Amino acid sequence: MASRNLVSIADLTNGEIEEIFELADAAEKLRSEKVGSGKIMATLFYEPSTRTRLSFESSMQRLGGTVISCSDMQASSAAKGESVADTAKVVSSYADVLVVRHYWDGAVQAMAEHADVQVINAGDGGHEHPTQTLCDLYTLRKEKGALKGLNVVICGDLKNGRTIHSLVYALARFGANVVTLAAAGMELPQYVLERLEREFQYTLAPVAGGDLSAVVTESDALYLTPKQPHQLALFTQVDNTIQSHLTSRVSGLRYDAFYMTRKQKERMKGVAAGGSYPTIGSKFLNERRFKDTVVMHPLPRVDELSPEVDKDRRGIYFQQAAYGVPIRMALLHFLFERQRQPKPLKSVKGAAIFENPHAVGPHCPNAKCITVNEPGSTRLRFELLAEGPAGALILRCFYCDHRFKVQLVGHKTSKRYCPYDITLDETVRQWLNSGELAIFDSIKQAEELGYEPHKSGPQRAIMNDREIQMAVRQMSDQIIHDCDDPDRLLVLGIRTNGSLIGQRIAAQLQQMQQRKFEVGELEIFGAGEDLRRIRPADAELGPIQLRDRSIILVDDVIHTGRTVKTALSMIFRSARPRSVRLAVLIDRGHREMPLKPNYVGKHIPSADHERVRVQLGAAEPNSRDSVVIYSIVSPNEKQ
Ligand code: NCD
Repeated sequence: MASRNLVSIADLTNGEIEEIFELADAAEKLRSEKVGSGKIMATLFYEPSTRTRLSFESSMQRLGGTVISCSDMQASSAAKGESVADTAKVVSSYADVLVVRHYWDGAVQAMAEHADVQVINAGDGGHEHPTQTLCDLYTLRKEKGALKGLNVVICGDLKNGRTIHSLVYALARFGANVVTLAAAGMELPQYVLERLEREFQYTLAPVAGGDLSAVVTESDALYLTPKQPHQLALFTQVDNTIQSHLTSRVSGLRYDAFYMTRKQKERMKGVAAGGSYPTIGSKFLNERRFKDTVVMHPLPRVDELSPEVDKDRRGIYFQQAAYGVPIRMALLHFLFERQRQPKPLKSVKGAAIFENPHAVGPHCPNAKCITVNEPGSTRLRFELLAEGPAGALILRCFYCDHRFKVQLVGHKTSKRYCPYDITLDETVRQWLNSGELAIFDSIKQAEELGYEPHKSGPQRAIMNDREIQMAVRQMSDQIIHDCDDPDRLLVLGIRTNGSLIGQRIAAQLQQMQQRKFEVGELEIFGAGEDLRRIRPADAELGPIQLRDRSIILVDDVIHTGRTVKTALSMIFRSARPRSVRLAVLIDRGHREMPLKPNYVGKHIPSADHERVRVQLGAAEPNSRDSVVIYSIVSPNEKQ
């Protein structure tokens, strides 16, 4: 039976969060009225916990209810291989509410689908931790009054810290601004940024000078704030006027709170677990501009937060932990009151729910997702989001929230498939509405289900291998001509073709200059590593540094400009380069964004329904380099 759960912070409206805060203010009343009397809570913690678990258990007892628990899930049937689905089903007959912490992203959503009672997420992998966010917001509100307009610095492991993800969504919803100060390689993941932009129109901008980095770390601070007009234009070139504009916009920021987090070592492999990490201590406390900045931490802390801060009035993390009890009492009462009032399936604004019509279909690319690790407890269910980066059609994993690009779409009745293209937007919508849409990860998957490929219109060659080579040479000449500091030069290609062209440009530059140049690759839509080192390939060198570099961003074709826009925001998310220049092999014109490439191989004005395909030998063996143009024949039309 469906019931009201708390899996994501998105399950609560702002009004409901305010209501929970009011209940928390009156926690003593809830206690004396014993509003939880007769209820049983089961705590299922597959990962260690002190605060979350004990404060939940204490809350339930204070409400007059009782608690059952497995002291260690390794001592439960989970150790014998029981699925989360079965555990949820079974424990539902022993308790009225399940409080679950699990190491896989999305595991609590899966359990909520199988449980017959209410389920609360006490942290699922690196995904979300909504009840911690309730404590955080409550603490902030108590300290600072309203949340709207506050500037909150989040610092540390923004990639794996689940408390951070729930917190930034909530701060955006309440209209607070966020300054990110990530440890190297631990920036906010792309899926979180994509959601912030899609749902709350929040984008990142660099923060002024050494305001924060001086007292905290070497990493660059970035400001997450509601979108400003013209911000895209700002990103197209980084010159002094733009820098000063940005600087004036965010310099002299009032920092209301500093939210520090621990490095989530348990979610990292090998090298990443070592390395430097920001810390906060006396230096921070002595800076005048932080005199009213409260310091928060979800705890436990390791070395990142010095005990010196404990004695200072601004260190409020123990109070923050103490609020765990009134907040969780309030939450339990709030949920019990709504036991039989399920919320409709939560859905991102403008998204459609997609269930694959076949037993096999697209896979979430997040290796830590429950759908990958325990597919039997989940369904092939996604949200379809239109208008993704570069006009892509995006699938959002219903469990872990990761987003990835639709590669191949199929029509269930005619059993045809083709690569997704923006011109198929309308067609795909119709198929979705009539329940005939299928989505595949690979041609193999489609063909194994008996689908056949669609044909496209006739092709016309517009560049051959020799012309492509000439274009690369001519762009490389211009790049060197404009370059005043070759030591800072970094060629950054957009995967896949942009990266291949970038590598050819770098090889050309090397020939002309008799020296090596660094090359990197950006992955626009994938759940894995966004930024990869290509050359020098030495893994020992660590992540590619973007800070203060003169970046040549390379792509094969520019049309709407969306891909480049996304690439630029990814670059600025991790650091502030000295400049970014854009090189493209083909410029198709018709930009949606105010972007102008600095280096163009060939201008080919072309219509929307046309496609330009760049084929590069290295990507497709046995074929010569070429650029072809052709029309899309809608799979609906008779051929
Ligand atoms: C956090 C968690 O488990 O995500 N702890 C908590 O619930 N207060 C933070 C952490 O473990 O770093």
